[in-house]
Amino acid sequence: MRLKNGRAWPELRQEMLALKELDFDWRRGRLPSYIYYRDDALLALQQEAYGLFMIENALGKARAFPSLLKMERDVIAMALDLLGGDEASDGIFTSGGTESLILAVKAARDWARAEGRFREPFRVLASETAHPAFSRAGHLLNVEVHRLPMRSQDFRADVAAFADAIDDHTIMLVGSAPHYPNGVFDPIGELGALANDRGLWLHVDACVGGFLAPFARLNGSPVPAFDLSVPGVSSLSADIHKYGFAAKGASLLLFRHGERKRYGGFSFDWVKGTYATDGLLGTRPGGAIACAWAVMNHLGLDGYRALAATTLQTTEAFTTGIDRIPGLRVVRPYDLCIFTYGSEDPDLDINAVADAMSRRGWFVARGLKPIPSIQIAVNPVHAPIVDEYLSDLSASVDEVRAGKLVGTFDARTY
Ligand SMILES: Cc1ncc(COP(=O)(O)O)c(C=O)c1O
Repeated sequence: MRLKNGRAWPELRQEMLALKELDFDWRRGRLPSYIYYRDDALLALQQEAYGLFMIENALGKARAFPSLLKMERDVIAMALDLLGGDEASDGIFTSGGTESLILAVKAARDWARAEGRFREPFRVLASETAHPAFSRAGHLLNVEVHRLPMRSQDFRADVAAFADAIDDHTIMLVGSAPHYPNGVFDPIGELGALANDRGLWLHVDACVGGFLAPFARLNGSPVPAFDLSVPGVSSLSADIHKYGFAAKGASLLLFRHGERKRYGGFSFDWVKGTYATDGLLGTRPGGAIACAWAVMNHLGLDGYRALAATTLQTTEAFTTGIDRIPGLRVVRPYDLCIFTYGSEDPDLDINAVADAMSRRGWFVARGLKPIPSIQIAVNPVHAPIVDEYLSDLSASVDEVRAGKLVGTFDARTY
């Protein structure tokens, strides 16, 4: 395509809306991930709040845009309050979970250099289930990210294996709350005790759980200890653009000891003076901060608790219904909102079931370990479609059995 002379907005708008028709119908819950949606009223608020500060640049927050600085500070303070921080804690507003995780590894690396008691090349220990962004961080930052097998019985990080693997290169341990592949929390309390004992940095990846678990706990659900109040936790990432329901481009990297925030940042004495940023980006969208601020204040404790209740009830409805379909089995344990299910019948191929669901218009996410499976990350957008999903799933299972169908594994997670 070549840039031509300009066209009128109404025509372009129509064209863009037509393009949307190519996508999976997320409003009807066809996507098992990617989308965090409550209703059109919240969507309108998100759009307006984002739009109000879309032009402003958070690179200039300290001098040109005190509005952004104030909103960013408010968002960080509210998150610290929710996630076990205290007066000494602080945080960095980032563009997403990936940036938060890369910055966490960078902060730990620069802290380790300052400490002077670790041997280079530095090493980070993580379970195999930790998000790929840790390995990307290792690649970018010249740090080795060593992944250990998850515990086979509950898919959680194997703390004994972590303890055995620590050597004088090891600077950091990683735990997830929960991890994406199986939706379980790693034993953060035990990892924290180990980190404290060996003088290491523990990062908790609560990108998924950070804005869901605290509200689920307030609603009475059993949520394992995972936040900054757990002894030994140095930093925690929480995505506002996931269960915080803000527009994309909003995550936080929180530090238990605020003075360590400086290890995440970057400063350069340039020909025109000092250039300094908190995170990886230079220019940053003011809209992402404004939207996070507006959504958090609009939803508030009661709004988030209601969303958490809907998410967990919907998860329960899915898993109970799936377990009732002969041949299928929900993989347990899972904590909160992400689960997988597979086949317990050698004559029922789960990949063929996935293919049959795709033919019925569902976007199907797959899982590999401990068994080939189908994965759902539940969201309020799924609440109205559970019965439709289960009925299509039941029909898909019948179709696979009748045709003795064998499917193909699609390894693409994203
Ligand atoms: C546990 C976990 N951490 C980090 C991330 C990365 O977040 P983002 O896609 O916002 O960069 C994800 C994304 O799904 C995740 O599930």
